[in-house]
Amino acid sequence: MISNEPASVSPAGLIVRENQPPNLESPFELLDGLLTPNHLFYVRNHFPVPQIDGRTHQLHVTGAVRNPFTIAYGELRAMRSETRAATLECAGNGRVFLMPPVEGVQWHSGAVGTAEWTGVPLSALLDRAGVDEQAIEIVFEGADKGVPKEKPAPPGEIIYARSIPLDKAHDVLIAYAMNGEDLSPQHGYPLRALVPGHYGMASVKWLSGIHVATRPFQGYFQTTDYAFWKEDAPGNPERVPLGEMSLKSQIARPQIDERIAAGSRYRVLGAAWSAGRVEAVEFSDDDGQTWQEAQFLDPVQPGVWRRWLFEWEVPSTPGPRTLRSRARDSDGNLQPSQHDKRFGTYVIHHVLPVCVVIRA
Ligand code: MTE
Repeated sequence: MISNEPASVSPAGLIVRENQPPNLESPFELLDGLLTPNHLFYVRNHFPVPQIDGRTHQLHVTGAVRNPFTIAYGELRAMRSETRAATLECAGNGRVFLMPPVEGVQWHSGAVGTAEWTGVPLSALLDRAGVDEQAIEIVFEGADKGVPKEKPAPPGEIIYARSIPLDKAHDVLIAYAMNGEDLSPQHGYPLRALVPGHYGMASVKWLSGIHVATRPFQGYFQTTDYAFWKEDAPGNPERVPLGEMSLKSQIARPQIDERIAAGSRYRVLGAAWSAGRVEAVEFSDDDGQTWQEAQFLDPVQPGVWRRWLFEWEVPSTPGPRTLRSRARDSDGNLQPSQHDKRFGTYVIHHVLPVCVVIRA
């Protein structure tokens, strides 16, 4: 059973899941506004945080383009910008709930957050570069490097790089600000890609290169890590990169192990998200036998979470109770009750139990 065992907490109030490199989890129970405050936004790093000087930082646009170019951070900031909200969830969020236990950063429910991101539309840079007709993908290259902890390890140091299909490019921001503040070093200062609707691994931090590719990118974080075996033909599976966030809801309050007075009223609070539109959330206080509809606090925005609440009439019988929530999207998909094992230690979006104690 998952419990609320004490973990060390960073000065900013984030839960330390790993010290080196810093992997820090948001205390999900503090869910308050639509936007997660920057100091409470989770941090997921594979390698040490590179120290970059914005005054000299440059972004290189290369590959299958007619006019490759390099743009200085300051020049990019002078371009027309856009601001949009997006929820970022690490594909390993909720890993601690997998049974039997698995390796990897032991995220509970807080490797997810929502921010308003400001930056230059990727399409403006691609228009300037003039993308070749043969192009199929955009590779984002980070300035951080190291040897991954995950196995199998590559032969030496690698940079962090990920690609997206070309047809996703229209949606991407080359972001320099988060909730109205310049990106912090932990979150990718001076520049990061922001790929709305995709798991966080696609939003490459410390962006130094945008490479237009005519072949599917085969880098480590595209094929070995953040990928899964897709088996269309039995016995002949293919390695496919993870992409869009799957439909998920989580309970923020009460927390696991919380003690709640019998017969009281409790305002259950949570959030639900997907790459698309979340249409409904249901709550259960009897381990999923019966469900009741929750109310939303936020409007529908694709790729942005919606907070929800349920005014719970706490039963008068003392004892343990298992609470659950489940989301439905506008395509009629229902959040699953079991983890899909094909995704291994990622895409943990099944309905999660929150065990509480009702006290007399
Ligand atoms: N970009 C670089 N360059 N290096 C990284 O380790 N981690 C990725 C992504 N971008 C990573 C990266 C992963 S796995 C996630 S979930 C998000 O960044 C987390 O973004 P955050 O730390 O700003 O929350």
